[in-house]
Amino acid sequence: MLLSTLLVFALPFVLGEEYVKFAVVIYRHGDRTIVQPYPTDPWRNESLWPVKFGELTNIGKKQHYELGKWLRKRYSHLLSEKYNPSEIYIRSTDVDRTLMSAQANLAGMYPPKGDSVWDTDLLWQPIPIHTVPEKDDEVLAMKKHCPAYKKALDDYMHSKEYKEKLSKYQDLMDYLTAYTGTKVRDLINIEYIYNTLYIEELYNFTLPNWTHTVYPDKMLEPAADSFRVSTATPTLARLKVGPLLKQITDYLVAASDRPEGGDQLNVVVYSAHDDTIACVLNALGLYNDALPPYTATVFFELVHDSTTNSEFVQISYRNSTDIVEPLTLHVPYCGARCPLPRLLQLYHDLISGHWQKDCDAQILKTGSHFFGMAFFLGLGIIVLVYTAHKVYFAQVAKRFRLANQYVGVKQDSKQTPGPAEVTEQTA
Ligand SMILES: *[C@@H]1O[C@H](CO)[C@@H](O)[C@H](O)[C@H]1NC(C)=O
Ligand SMILES: *[C@@H]1O[C@H](CO)[C@@H](O)[C@H](O)[C@H]1NC(C)=O
Ligand SMILES: *[C@@H]1O[C@H](CO)[C@@H](O)[C@H](O)[C@H]1NC(C)=O
Ligand SMILES: *[C@@H]1O[C@H](CO)[C@@H](O)[C@H](O)[C@H]1NC(C)=O
Repeated sequence: MLLSTLLVFALPFVLGEEYVKFAVVIYRHGDRTIVQPYPTDPWRNESLWPVKFGELTNIGKKQHYELGKWLRKRYSHLLSEKYNPSEIYIRSTDVDRTLMSAQANLAGMYPPKGDSVWDTDLLWQPIPIHTVPEKDDEVLAMKKHCPAYKKALDDYMHSKEYKEKLSKYQDLMDYLTAYTGTKVRDLINIEYIYNTLYIEELYNFTLPNWTHTVYPDKMLEPAADSFRVSTATPTLARLKVGPLLKQITDYLVAASDRPEGGDQLNVVVYSAHDDTIACVLNALGLYNDALPPYTATVFFELVHDSTTNSEFVQISYRNSTDIVEPLTLHVPYCGARCPLPRLLQLYHDLISGHWQKDCDAQILKTGSHFFGMAFFLGLGIIVLVYTAHKVYFAQVAKRFRLANQYVGVKQDSKQTPGPAEVTEQTA
């Protein structure tokens, strides 16, 4: 026990002067089948596929199992061999393939050993994976309804900038519309078809002849570009990935303020999708314009440098399905070793929002817009009524004066009738 404790604490120093003190990991699920075929797809019959549409395949399970084994090695100094719920937290989007990917990954990370073995024929143990229904999840699925986001996205999709970008692909979109039997009207539609063709090719299904002139070359750029759309402006980025990046930076802040190791949270894992990876990277200004492959992983690691007794954040990206070292990314205006306070400062706009309030703020704004219009309309009506009244009144007064000529000057001088009386009298 003492030896293993010593080893756990000694290991990071043995590895060098720098070691990861805390890590956040976001990965994409593994190999899956197509989510939905296009209408004219010759491979649209689900029974041609090993599993139902959109589900994780055995290849995908294997990919994540391998990644899990690799993560176990990378974070052996942060995670006890025996599962300790204080040390790790795993969250997945509420989708079969991400939940299953996390399970396969954890099988690789936590093979039961010693007294954790509960069935000698099954060297697997259950590890909790937390999730939130997609419609309630603004953090990882990023699918909770946000009126302000919807409006901002709509504005962007109607912007000159986006329309100009899109017009470059008009011929391609017309071509795809003609052959796929579905209306292809923006980058996301192109990506969808690209993705389907990519998977069919991977599964050795012969692609129809019409694809040869456009797939993959002509479709690749717009498909990769489609991942920029949902975080294309600072507002979109803030409302889309603000909550996740806030959560991640909160974890990093908490970890930087405490001694390392021990019985505390050391690793946080998010199991998600290609668009999660792309959104995070794009919002941080780090997207490489390449479609995130299966099991692509983004790392936020708090690294301790024991020679200077300082800490920095290292963001890296494993843009591959193969087990390779991730590439360290250079944070704009900060570099590969970005001190946490600087990181927080650089991305302040992205992470400082109050998501729910910001999402509803737009309604209030449109609301107050509406109230403003109603106010002026109301004011206009009042002015109109008042003016009409005045005009009418002047006419009545005139008639009254004329009538009074017959009644006599005496009465006229005795009491000048008020407008109400006049009206009443003439009514
Ligand atoms: C799909 O293929 C299966 C097996 O070949 C067949 O029984 C079924 O009728 C097909 N379904 C459709 C919708 O074509
Ligand atoms: C497709 O064919 C290649 C070459 O024969 C093979 O290695 C690969 O496993 C096949 N892919 C699938 C998903 O079966
Ligand atoms: C596709 O093209 C190949 C040769 O380029 C041809 O042999 C084949 O008949 C074509 N298939 C269809 C369905 O037109
Ligand atoms: C990963 O990214 C690097 C740098 O952007 C690039 O050189 C490499 O080709 C990429 N690999 C894959 C598999 O996309």
